[in-house]
Amino acid sequence: MKTLNAILAALFSLAVPLSGGAQNIPYREYEPMEQYVPNVSGDLSLSGTYQYWKDPANLDYRLAGNPDENWKLNWKFMDPPFNKAIHGGHFALDRGETLFQQINVDGRFAKCLGGGKLKHLRAGYPRWRADLKHVAGLEEVIEYCGGKQGRVLQNGSYDNSAISLYLASLGGGQPISIDVSRGPMKEAYERGRHLFHSKAGAYNFACATCHTHNIGKRLRGNTITTIYGDAAHYPVYRTQYMLQSLHLRFAECNADARTQPLVPGSKPYTDLEVFVTALTNGYPISVPAERDW
Ligand code: HEC
Repeated sequence: MKTLNAILAALFSLAVPLSGGAQNIPYREYEPMEQYVPNVSGDLSLSGTYQYWKDPANLDYRLAGNPDENWKLNWKFMDPPFNKAIHGGHFALDRGETLFQQINVDGRFAKCLGGGKLKHLRAGYPRWRADLKHVAGLEEVIEYCGGKQGRVLQNGSYDNSAISLYLASLGGGQPISIDVSRGPMKEAYERGRHLFHSKAGAYNFACATCHTHNIGKRLRGNTITTIYGDAAHYPVYRTQYMLQSLHLRFAECNADARTQPLVPGSKPYTDLEVFVTALTNGYPISVPAERDW
């Protein structure tokens, strides 16, 4: 009996850490990871569509031939300078400029955003902010710096995105350039890369299920494009939303794929933004852009 008790006790003590350990590591399925190289030349083998839109001369959709193939251009013919039409993005940009001038009367808003280098802001975000002690996207910083001036500029709101769009326009044409080779930016990039491939939600889809492994396929009224170059035309004017920040787009994709959407500015979305922006490195800022769907 004594031995049996000892055996049971031994088994029990074994069982507790085992089950406890299993609970600590949630089960997670991943889409196969690609060997992403976060610069434009490294993307070539993976994006599949970059070959079509790397040459600006191809970006006239009328040259694309079959309109059903337009997704190969990643709809970049709706980015300036190709799309010359006036749309809601232009009004948003005006709103952003007016607001910026109002809030920045004493220059402190601009100083908080990034000193005298406003035209370089968009191309260099997300980045590590020593004052916030974490990697932050531009919209989060707009909310933070607006708050210091007594203004509520909630991340994801029209006014926040309008200011972001105005700041992006100051750097129009500049190549996106974030360094994810080391430190907290590298950590954020790696977390974002894992999130992009983590399956979740009712369909058990990852971002990569659609944007890496099903590009070109029809999904209701849409055709899925690659993720490459996307960060360069955000915030984007969309007929449905007026103005959509990149984080709101993530939320929409999450909702469409029946996964819990997150709050703009949340850490997982910022990590995703770092990953998505790194895959846009080298592509010129093109705002105000428009997307119809
Ligand atoms: C069920 C498939 C699906 C999933 C899963 C999905 N998306 Fe999308 N996504 C789409 C479709 C369809 C569009 C609109 C067409 C396009 O541009 O690809 C889109 C558009 C986008 C765009 C905007 C492209 C542009 O040019 O403006 C971004 C950025 C994006 N998705 C990121 C993500 C991220 C990040 C995730 C994971 C959190 C994700 N998506 C998950 C289907 C999906």
